[in-house]
Amino acid sequence: MVKQSNAWMAMPKKRWPLMVLALFSLSTVMVLFMRATSDCGNTGTKNFVADDQRDGQMHSIQLVDGAPNPLEFMKSKLVLMVSHELSLSGGPLLLMELAFLLRAVGSEVVWITNQKPVEPDEVIYSLKNKMLDRGVQVLPAKGEKAIDTALRADLVILNTAVAGKWLDAVLKEKVSRVLPKVLWWIHEMRGHYFKVEYVKHLPFVAGAMIDSHTTAEYWKNRTKERLGIKMPETYVVHLGNSKELMEVADDSVAKRILREHVRESLGVRNDDLLFAIINSVSRGKGQDLFLRSFYESLQLIQQKKLQVPKLHAVVVGSDMNAQTKFETELRKFVVEKKIQDCVHFVNKTLTVAPYLASIDVLVQNSQARGECFGRITIEAMAFRLPVLGTAAGGTMEIVINGSTGLLHPAGKEGVTPLANNIVKLATHVERRLTMGKKGYERVKERFLEHHMAHRIALVLKDVLRKAKSQG
Ligand SMILES: *[C@@H]1O[C@H](CO)[C@@H](O)[C@H](O)[C@H]1NC(C)=O
Ligand SMILES: *[C@@H]1O[C@H](CO)[C@@H](O)[C@H](O)[C@H]1NC(C)=O
Ligand SMILES: *[C@@H]1O[C@H](CO)[C@@H](O)[C@H](O)[C@H]1NC(C)=O
Repeated sequence: MVKQSNAWMAMPKKRWPLMVLALFSLSTVMVLFMRATSDCGNTGTKNFVADDQRDGQMHSIQLVDGAPNPLEFMKSKLVLMVSHELSLSGGPLLLMELAFLLRAVGSEVVWITNQKPVEPDEVIYSLKNKMLDRGVQVLPAKGEKAIDTALRADLVILNTAVAGKWLDAVLKEKVSRVLPKVLWWIHEMRGHYFKVEYVKHLPFVAGAMIDSHTTAEYWKNRTKERLGIKMPETYVVHLGNSKELMEVADDSVAKRILREHVRESLGVRNDDLLFAIINSVSRGKGQDLFLRSFYESLQLIQQKKLQVPKLHAVVVGSDMNAQTKFETELRKFVVEKKIQDCVHFVNKTLTVAPYLASIDVLVQNSQARGECFGRITIEAMAFRLPVLGTAAGGTMEIVINGSTGLLHPAGKEGVTPLANNIVKLATHVERRLTMGKKGYERVKERFLEHHMAHRIALVLKDVLRKAKSQG
């Protein structure tokens, strides 16, 4: 092991070892990126046009390496973004990503955070500075300047249902002048978002952009049945992986170093098999059911006397300060079943790449309606990992059952099917690797940043056109 650390030190000129060091020194102070809760994918498409129909529609612009930048038409447009909060959770980070994509083509971007925390917060401070560095203007939520910007803007993007509170509170009688240029980006499908006070203006905005077809259907249904309101034109926009993530995923040296480092820190051998669930630890994400499946798979292997490498379960997203009761339950289960030596809890972290580089299979076990989109799923596929996922929500729009992964039902009835799937991937090396490769190809085909930019560009174009015809 000493040899390994020497190897890193010996490569000061390569950027990856440095990056790796940075990642791990960071991880001790890291705040979690709770990806799962509000990550929805986004694939801009008018009334659910299939993802593939978009290429070839945009010619103009330069994006990367000579490829056209589909957002070029946004140059010098004024865009106001209203976020319900500024934090490291999926929703605000996505909006920030879009802000930077727009800055890169020369849009003027103004950011407003509607909900300020009572106490000063380090995360907020650093996110705000990051935006200022990239030329995003940050304004107070209330006041003349906010109103004036909303009236002057070419486009206003509201992020999440809760941001709807800002409209009346700040714009007051001027709301109706702004609505025709509002694009409402929605990343959630939980019941408490269906409140009239949040979404009463929804029918009158230019469009809603939602991260998966499942979530869009859910919103259509719920707004109609619960609130008696009609959704505006709705665009489904699946997300894409960031360039930074793809860079690591495509760098075999970086991946090997990360893999060795993480495996060493977990006390896991190089040829052991790691099944990981990477989500905030909570009942909705199904870590409890995953551990039951994992235990069942160990029993199956023993009963059938199957020859497989040692299996490990890795639970990334642990937070004993937040979900204490649920996590205590998980840890108790592990002790009761005497599987402590092959179950590993890892604290929540913003940096998932090291774990994706070290594991063999991603488990996406979100329960009930599942993930809205589930960004970790496409991130894992970028690392050529097969996905064992629940047949629910956005996961079904990402994972092709039998090709890029295997699906099992949500709920208790999924425990045995997931156990069987774990055994399948443990015993069929070739199948596991092929699935990972297929997943990677799928990401390259439709879940990259430039795919997302294309999809969003179609939506923004449409919304600008409508706003103009109304104003
Ligand atoms: C809407 O949801 C209700 C209950 O959640 C369900 O019974 C109904 O079939 C759904 N309608 C559509 C059109 O999906
Ligand atoms: C994980 O978090 C707990 C508290 O939430 C803390 O006590 C522990 O030191 C952390 N572990 C690591 C390795 O950072
Ligand atoms: C996934 O495929 C398997 C067969 O490969 C099948 O048994 C299972 O029912 C499928 N699940 C879903 C949700 O389609």
